[in-house]
Amino acid sequence: MKRLACLFVLLWPVYSQAGSDVHSFADIDSYRQTHLALDLSADFANRRLLGTATLRFERGTGGPLVLDTRDLLIRAVSLDSGQSSKLLPFELGPHHHILGRSLTIHLPESLSGEFLLTIRYETEPEASGLQWLNARQTAGGTHPFLFSQSQAIHARSWVPLQDTPAARITYEALISTPPELLAVMSAERLADQSGDGKHVFVMRQAIPSYLLAIAIGDLTFAPIGPRTGVYADPAVLEAALAEFEDTEKMLEIAEELFGPYRWERYDLLILPPSFPYGGMENARLSFITPTVLAGDKSLVSLIAHELAHSWSGNLVTNADWEDFWLNEGFTTFLEGRITGALYGERQRRMEERLGYEALLAAFDEMEPQFEKLRVELEGVDPDAVFSVVPYEKGRLLLDWLAAEFGNEIFNEFLNAFFDRYAFKSVTTDDFLAYLQNHLLDKFPGKVSMQQVHEWIYQPGLPATAIIPPTGVFAEVEQMRTEWLAGQLPAEEIDATRWSTQDWLFFLNNMPQKLSQPQLRALDKAFALTESGNNEIAHSWLRIAIRNNYRPAWPRLERYLLSIGRNKLIKPLYQDLAKTAEGLEFARRIFEQARPGHHPQTVFVIENVLYPDPGQS
Ligand code: BES
Ligand code: ZN
Repeated sequence: MKRLACLFVLLWPVYSQAGSDVHSFADIDSYRQTHLALDLSADFANRRLLGTATLRFERGTGGPLVLDTRDLLIRAVSLDSGQSSKLLPFELGPHHHILGRSLTIHLPESLSGEFLLTIRYETEPEASGLQWLNARQTAGGTHPFLFSQSQAIHARSWVPLQDTPAARITYEALISTPPELLAVMSAERLADQSGDGKHVFVMRQAIPSYLLAIAIGDLTFAPIGPRTGVYADPAVLEAALAEFEDTEKMLEIAEELFGPYRWERYDLLILPPSFPYGGMENARLSFITPTVLAGDKSLVSLIAHELAHSWSGNLVTNADWEDFWLNEGFTTFLEGRITGALYGERQRRMEERLGYEALLAAFDEMEPQFEKLRVELEGVDPDAVFSVVPYEKGRLLLDWLAAEFGNEIFNEFLNAFFDRYAFKSVTTDDFLAYLQNHLLDKFPGKVSMQQVHEWIYQPGLPATAIIPPTGVFAEVEQMRTEWLAGQLPAEEIDATRWSTQDWLFFLNNMPQKLSQPQLRALDKAFALTESGNNEIAHSWLRIAIRNNYRPAWPRLERYLLSIGRNKLIKPLYQDLAKTAEGLEFARRIFEQARPGHHPQTVFVIENVLYPDPGQS
């Protein structure tokens, strides 16, 4: 037994694949968490989760055990063995503005193998990974709502744990809520709809901590297909079901393309509009913004994206946030494959072109170091440098590889990669080694490692990039040109067959300056200010801000007050902040919106509107 333990310790560094995560205090070589059991009550009146987290650890090299926390009130830590439990001394480290506070637990020297620790704690009302909404902020307007957003480093604000994607856990949870509310998690629901306010979950597949998720509210469920369904506020359930009716089909197509779906169910949870992201790929249950309920399924590639994470991200996970492109670049590529198979190559090409244009726009605004795929984030908050680069540049890298090796071979390679690293975490180096052995060396003479390195370690786009052509938008482009030249009056632009993507291409590529008569004419012909499509409204409002088109101001104000999705509101605030008058308006609106915003939205928008270092 002793010899075995010794061997275990010797093998440990080999077994741990990950490098060190600059965003975690934990050292997964000393101890590694393997399972979490939560027993939490949701106290809506005081905006707190309170209860216990029991973590199972495997001992590695030992020493004091360090966990990640942020704004948690730690009441007690105990070592559980059989019937007895022993209180342990612990201390919280100083507050770090990005990482939170380390929780150091002093364990008995003799401890070896596996053990259980129970931490009794409470969350703070301002927990960065939670948003507590009052009833008025929900679609139904009658019940409060709570949801989590753990990615990238916010799980630690509602569960004390090793908050690094290099370590995976299975989990179980008992969640107590007011009896009229339903709880959902990134896990299987075991019980029960009986209305006693006790909700039991189990997650048998090991996940990284950033996929831990919870939501509580007035939620109802409706199935889409045998393995898919929607949870939503009763007021939006029907709209969501119609919008996302293709989800089961998407799942089938994704399996054909990328291999078996390993998470049993795939459900969607529709969140209130303050959700800071478009979607979040929480295991088994993607969290989805209601801003994609366009009524015509034109924004559902978001679902393809979150579903694709079930392979790239949730199954094969970036080992740390410096390798984030492995999650998002792969997923954006997979998303395109699903969209192409389900809605046609034309649709895929349109979305890819728009993505490429967003990438170029992002390059214009950022420091070159963040134009690389692999980024260095020591001392950097991942939320502060979030951009489309890992998504769109990552996709273009895979597009190029697929073109060089052929779709079929590349797809086989991808599937083998997902198999090889299933339920593991990978670094860029792991991927490059795998690429070298299983693609470059196998089919020599096509792609060199040096070319790949240029994609990953250099800013900008390498010469090998295949630029998504504008051809799919040829008609739209021509109409824009004619309209701008004054040859085609706005009311004669035939947009009857334009999709959302056509509109976005039309609007996003307008010259910086348009005249007031031009803006009025377009708005009169197409009622753009009142567009119910949040993406089209977003593009139009950017034009309106640039050109000080005042008739759009009331809509702009409503938009900024009702939406919390950063991708939609951050650019509007950035545009406004370019003039003194705009900045003043933006600050006024933001201060009004702030109480309804998610902490992560507040963080991002504050950085735009109050950029001086040191301001809170
Ligand atoms: N995992 C991301 C969201 C995320 C990234 C949250 C980093 C926190 C930190 C999710 O899969 C995503 O990429 N969502 C996009 C949608 C997508 C279609 C580009 C979004 O939210 O807009
Ligand atoms: Zn994603």
